[in-house]
Amino acid sequence: MKILVTGGLGFIGSHTVVELLNNNYEVIIVDNLYNSQIDVLDKIKQITGKDVKFYKEDVCDKQALEKIFKENEIDSVIHFAGYKAVGESCQKPLMYYRNNLMSTINLLEVMNENNVKSFIFSSSATIYGDPGTPKYVEKMGRGKTSNPYGTTKAMIEEILEDLYKSDNTWKISILRYFNPTGAHSSGLIGESPNGIPNNLMPYILKVASGELEVLNIFGNDYPTPDGTGIRDYIHVVDVAKGHVSALNKIVNSNSGVYVYNLGSGKGVSVLELVNTFERVNNVKVNYRIADRRPGDLAEYYADPTKALNELGWKAEKTVEDICRDSWNFMKNNKN
Ligand code: WQD
Repeated sequence: MKILVTGGLGFIGSHTVVELLNNNYEVIIVDNLYNSQIDVLDKIKQITGKDVKFYKEDVCDKQALEKIFKENEIDSVIHFAGYKAVGESCQKPLMYYRNNLMSTINLLEVMNENNVKSFIFSSSATIYGDPGTPKYVEKMGRGKTSNPYGTTKAMIEEILEDLYKSDNTWKISILRYFNPTGAHSSGLIGESPNGIPNNLMPYILKVASGELEVLNIFGNDYPTPDGTGIRDYIHVVDVAKGHVSALNKIVNSNSGVYVYNLGSGKGVSVLELVNTFERVNNVKVNYRIADRRPGDLAEYYADPTKALNELGWKAEKTVEDICRDSWNFMKNNKN
């Protein structure tokens, strides 16, 4: 089976391509390299020994998409391509709405024109908004999102539900990620954001490696055991395997819209993550307590039951694995 992976050279996309190839799927990647590097293609080949067809195109370019579908017998699509920086989305909302919505609508239209109706969408736990309880379960539905990035994810979920209502031959899987982090154990692929990182683990890595001086811990006065924010950190390889499980499910299922949390089900605080990172890697992470970051919630993590029951998937890697693999990737990719 041939799978088109948009954003397939990105952080989660590249790890998912590796797992698809390991499961004998044929993969075609389309990526505009806005937030990824072309050498990831070679690294995927080094890890899997397999070639991947690559198109350097923007998913917003409908003609480019039409060419890809004309040249390839595509069976399913996994859609990662999109802007994903929460803070940037608040400064540049129109850029986020245009890019994330138009790319998705283009893709779905071209899929429809080519009678390809099997689609996996990269969503986010941020669509739950602030439901007032820390353990998120799919049936809670979408809440009030707190930033344009999250709103684009919620809007696309709505678009997919409406698309299915209009044509019930679609098979759609919506995967709501919690906090994907970590790296492939080979140290060849991982998370390498440009510039000052927004997310916690990339920031820890840059402080531990001396590239940045100190980690600001955004608040230690939350109603949590140690006062710092609690999240569900899930190893990116587990997230990638979740996509293969979701693909296997929709390939062998009736049409419908299926929604799953991809999380470990375990909440970990900022201080716990920092302390685990130091212990596992025997390195020091300088930090100081700073003010809370506006918009942050105190605590949330996944109820992962549905994915286990329906996909037979659960996170297998630990927070220690996340810390070890992240640091290994950082050391292997210092430049
Ligand atoms: C985690 C914890 C911070 C940085 C976001 C998006 C979400 C998803 C994952 C895309 C919080 C604390 C962080 C720092 C800190 N992205 N922190 N110092 O905000 O949970 O989720 O990224 O899908 O949609 O909302 O992730 O890594 O930014 O923060 O203390 O320098 O670490 O307060 O408690 P977040 P994060």
